Amino acid sequence: KELVFSGMQPTGNLHLGNYLGALQRFIGLQDSYECIYCVVDQHSITAQLVHDDLAEQTRQIAAAYLAAGLDPKKSIIFNQARVPQHTELAWYFNCVARIGWMNRMTQFKDKAGKDRENASLGLLAYPSLMAADILVYRATHVPVGEDQKQHLELARDIAQKFNNDFSARIADLGYGVEMEVGEERVNGFFPVTEPLIGGAAPRVMSLRDGTKKMSKSDPSDLSRINLKDDADAIAKKIKKAKTDPEALPSEVEGLAGRPEAENLVGIYAALAEKSREEVISEFGGQQFSAFKPALAELAVAKLSPITSEMNRICEDREHVDAVLRDGGERAGAIAEGTMKMVREIIGFNTK
Ligand code: TYM
Repeated sequence: KELVFSGMQPTGNLHLGNYLGALQRFIGLQDSYECIYCVVDQHSITAQLVHDDLAEQTRQIAAAYLAAGLDPKKSIIFNQARVPQHTELAWYFNCVARIGWMNRMTQFKDKAGKDRENASLGLLAYPSLMAADILVYRATHVPVGEDQKQHLELARDIAQKFNNDFSARIADLGYGVEMEVGEERVNGFFPVTEPLIGGAAPRVMSLRDGTKKMSKSDPSDLSRINLKDDADAIAKKIKKAKTDPEALPSEVEGLAGRPEAENLVGIYAALAEKSREEVISEFGGQQFSAFKPALAELAVAKLSPITSEMNRICEDREHVDAVLRDGGERAGAIAEGTMKMVREIIGFNTK
C-alpha cells in the first residue's frame, strides 16, 4: 500500500525554500495518496532544548499547512509529541543504526560545528527519529527538499538492516510483505522508502549567495523570503537579490555556472508551476531589471493569500488544536498497529 509521510520542524518562520521544496508539493499528493503530514516538534529540541513557546510555534506550522491547502479530511495532520510511538521506535532504531552512520551525516557536522563532544546526543540520533517518523506508518514515499536526501538514505539503511537482522522472526510471524528494492524483489517488514525530491526548486538558494541554501539560520533576513513577509518586504528582497550583470540566457543550458540566475529562474518556475524551459522561453534575453519585478509580482500573488489565511487560522487556536488532536488520534491508531508487531518481532515480553 502506498502512503506518503513528511514533516517540518516548528523552529522559526517558514521560508520560500520550505514552501517550494516541500509544502507546495504536499498539497498535490493529497489527491493521489493517503498522506500523513507531521509537525516534528520533538526534532526541534535536538539543537535547542528550551523554546519560548513550542506549542504556539507548532500551531503556526499547522496553520501554514492548512493555509497552503492541506485538507484535514483528506490528510492526517498532527504533531509528533502526540504520538509517543515515534520515540519508541526511534529507540529501537538507535540500536539498529551504527554510530558511524550518524557521524557521517553532513547536517550533524554542520549543526554540531567544531565542538562535537558538546552537541546533544539527540542531535546525533536525529536521523533515527526521522526514520521512525516515516516507518512507524510504513510510509512508502517522502516528499522533501534536496537537503534531506542523506537522512532519507539513512532511513532506507535502517529499514533494510532491521528487515535483515529480524528476517527469520518476521517470516515466522508472517509479518513480511513482498516489495521491490531496486531491481530485486524482497520480503521485509519495513518498506525501503522512496524520497520524492524534485519539482523546479528542490533546493532554493539564498538570495544573497546562490551557492548557499536558503535557510532559517542565515543571519541576514535579506537572504530569504519568509511566508510571513508582506508584499513590500518580498519586493524589496527580490530587488536586492544578488545577480550577475548578464541578461537571462536564451536557453536553459546558459544558466549553468550562474547560480543566482539559476536560483531566481527556478523560483519563478516553481511558483508559476512551469518548467524552467517555459520560463526561459518567456524571459530569455531580458535583463534582471525586467525579470525581478515580474518575479516579485508572482511571489506576492502566490504567497500573500497563504500568509493572510495563515494569520487568520492562527487566531483560532482551538480550531488548530482540534485538527492536531484529531490527526494525532488517527495517526496514533496506525502507529500502534505497527508497534504491536515491532514489539513482537523484537521479542519483548509484553503479553
Ligand atoms: P525542515 O523543517 O528543516 O524543512 C522542512 C522541509 O523544507 C525543505 N527545505 C528546503 N527545500 C528546498 N530548498 C531549501 N532551501 C529548503 N530548506 C528546507 C526540507 O528539505 C524539508 O522537506 N528533518 C526534517 C524534518 C523531518 C522529516 C521527517 C521530513 C523530520 N522527520 C520525516 C520528512 C520525513 C527537517 O528538518 O526539515
